[in-house]
Amino acid sequence: MTPHSPPTDTDDRPGLSDRLFASIYEPFLALGERRGMAQRRRLLLAGASGSVLEIGAGTGLNLPYYPAAVTGLTVSEPNGAMRAVLQRRVDAAEGGPGSRAPLRISAAAAESLPFDDDTFDVVVSTLVLCTVADPVAAVDEVKRVLRPGGRFLVLEHVRGPSGSRLERWQHRLAGPWEKFAAGCRCDRATADVLGDAGFEVRSLREDSWSGMPSFVAPLVIGSLTALDRGAC
Ligand SMILES: C[S@@+](CC[C@H](N)C(=O)[O-])C[C@H]1O[C@@H](n2cnc3c(N)ncnc32)[C@H](O)[C@@H]1O
Repeated sequence: MTPHSPPTDTDDRPGLSDRLFASIYEPFLALGERRGMAQRRRLLLAGASGSVLEIGAGTGLNLPYYPAAVTGLTVSEPNGAMRAVLQRRVDAAEGGPGSRAPLRISAAAAESLPFDDDTFDVVVSTLVLCTVADPVAAVDEVKRVLRPGGRFLVLEHVRGPSGSRLERWQHRLAGPWEKFAAGCRCDRATADVLGDAGFEVRSLREDSWSGMPSFVAPLVIGSLTALDRGAC
């Protein structure tokens, strides 16, 4: 484990702003989900198998897309209000691996995962590295808990091209957006963080998130492979 302490609320009694964010999260994303994001989640997760960890699982929008090849699923979400919605979704049996594999919910922050080295075959992160307090520490933790050869499946919104008008707007709007969107940074260079993290990049493609404000539209989607630690 890293020395980082959880940066978000792991309390069982979330504050008003967290509860508000959790209640508007899915309605706010709904148009984008219909306009392709749900399908992107499905395609990304179609390749998941074995023992899987999802970090920052939010309200559990990915749960319906885990295939039967997943034999165990751990979903972590440090925000108590988001986790409460996630728990309700699990209780309603709306989601979960097609195989009905064991599912457990954790309150762990991505920067400090309470799992042994080499625990998981796959780690999933969708729209999370924009929000974690320390994305480099989070990705280091992902590498640690993945077995060598394990895969990191990512779907993240990222900073626009360097010097572009979009990038300038992302910087201008980063402060207000961060307040509205519970800590999300629309100008975070997540593609660089992933590229520098010491994974083998199997596929990482760019896409655009329609149905959402343009300053969060640029996406990277793909699969990174954890190298043998001796090879890093
Ligand atoms: C934009 S939401 C994405 C939720 C979900 N992954 C999805 O695809 O809909 C970002 C999530 O990251 C969570 N988060 C914030 N800080 C985190 C941290 N340090 N570690 C893990 N998750 C974190 C938030 O609580 C929130 O649920």
